[in-house]
Amino acid sequence: MKNCKLSWMLVVVLSVIVAALGYKFTVGNVQPSDDGRQAVMLSKDERNALLLEMRVWLQSAQGILSAASVKDFDAVVKSAKASGMSAEAETPGSLFRKLPVEMKALGFDTREKFDDIAATAAKSKDSNLVVEKLSVAMNNCIACHEMYRFVEETK
Ligand code: HEC
Repeated sequence: MKNCKLSWMLVVVLSVIVAALGYKFTVGNVQPSDDGRQAVMLSKDERNALLLEMRVWLQSAQGILSAASVKDFDAVVKSAKASGMSAEAETPGSLFRKLPVEMKALGFDTREKFDDIAATAAKSKDSNLVVEKLSVAMNNCIACHEMYRFVEETK
């Protein structure tokens, strides 16, 4: 009987720990920011890595537009792929714990949209369709920038 009670307590304690870890993983390392957004708190290196990723996304967007305007679909594919899922490996693993789950979802969705632009360009060779898809993908840029900042943690 005593043993049974003990194991139930163990189950409860473990569930609380798992729930707490799950919660931490979901909300990420965020704090309210005085500009109304959420500040995602990162180390200097993590913040720099993400901002670099951002600048690559901007380069891809410009590269896609400029290549689509001259119907150079190989160049569209190249620019889009630079920001697709295969480039995700460059993101430091420590970030996964710190980023809120909605942010990760938006980030992955953006990469998938770049991959879709590459596939569309290769298959359809339709520059209007490429521009239309990029315009939809860029709603993700707006949505995420509206919600989050990257702030360096002070020790
Ligand atoms: C999942 C969230 C998210 C998405 C999606 C996103 N960004 Fe960002 N981006 C951020 C955050 C957060 C910052 C930092 C803003 C701040 O601290 O004020 C940022 C900063 C930037 C910067 C500044 C980089 C620097 O060196 O300072 C650029 C450029 C940028 N984003 C471009 C883009 C473009 C282009 C897209 C879409 C193709 C995009 N971002 C999509 C979250 C996102």
